[in-house]
Amino acid sequence: MTRRSIKELVRTSVRDLKPYSSARDEFQGDSNGMVFLDANENPFGSGLNRYPDPRQIKLKQVLASIKHVAVENVLCGNGSDEILDLIVRAFCEPKRDKLVILPPTYGMYKVIAGINDIAVVSVNLNPEFQPEVEEILKKSDANTKMLFLCSPNNPSSNAFQRSRIEQLIMNFDGIVVIDEAYADFSSERSFVNDIHRFPNLIVTQTLSKAFGLAGIRLGLCFASAFIIETLHKIKPPYNVNALTQQQAITALLDREKLNSEINLILQQRERLANALKNIKIVEHVFPSDSNFLLVKVDDARSRYEQLIELGIVVRDRSNLFGCENCLRFTIGTTDENKALIKALNELK
Ligand SMILES: Cc1ncc(COP(=O)(O)O)c(C=O)c1O
Repeated sequence: MTRRSIKELVRTSVRDLKPYSSARDEFQGDSNGMVFLDANENPFGSGLNRYPDPRQIKLKQVLASIKHVAVENVLCGNGSDEILDLIVRAFCEPKRDKLVILPPTYGMYKVIAGINDIAVVSVNLNPEFQPEVEEILKKSDANTKMLFLCSPNNPSSNAFQRSRIEQLIMNFDGIVVIDEAYADFSSERSFVNDIHRFPNLIVTQTLSKAFGLAGIRLGLCFASAFIIETLHKIKPPYNVNALTQQQAITALLDREKLNSEINLILQQRERLANALKNIKIVEHVFPSDSNFLLVKVDDARSRYEQLIELGIVVRDRSNLFGCENCLRFTIGTTDENKALIKALNELK
């Protein structure tokens, strides 16, 4: 099989684009002692009167060292949602190209495709919520530019088998995006360090989940230097603000906090899963590699509404393929999980 080069996969308009050059891009010398009159900023210092580093070099250096990749392999975005959109825009030609998603999966892939006028090819996961490799490859043609793998998958909560993912990366003639938003909760190894093996692989992660920083909006992207540079060309110049960059560096360096919170969430996940199995309305608890559980109940819609009346908001996922009568429970604190169990036990 002859496969297209990554360069061939990039949209022509993006390949030929001369990116915007910001004031901070143009002067990259030593800033010590310099008078900055180049960016039309307010000169009265508040600590935040200057534009942030558009390349987020300090943040990327920390990320590169933690993830064992080079700075050139990292892109930061305003949440991974921004990064996913950049990826689609960099590679998929509106009204012509298609991307493949594997339902049930994260809803934003379809929304991003819709916004960008990219057709969606859906290949359902199998009953164990694993990708059907042969079927995915069969449904791909010259216009399928991209495959989205969400692993661990939202909403099914499981990680995909590594061997299936590898077969897809090796045989799919296009870009394979692995969305690892929940990877910190999984016992499966991340694909971040496989970007050197596979030129068509892009891995995204986020500080919104395990790091507990959904409010600062920081998404991460790991890929070859060529892909990262291509995405960098089309990103808004100052997409990651100064406060986010500072806060993220602090959080990334505090491994103790991260690990202790992940451990607590994993302990709670196990306890909650066990407790749920003894509740009358619960029919099945799916195995989880994430910080949430997908749970089949007798009647998802009415249980969802009853829980709201008891002050607990969960997610009704029952309209998604393979998730009939399923609710999704995020793992909360010990007290929150106890409150959920108590409420579920009270339901008539
Ligand atoms: C699979 C998946 N990817 C990405 C995101 C969005 O992450 P971010 O907060 O970094 O935009 C979510 C959020 O729920 C998600 O479930």
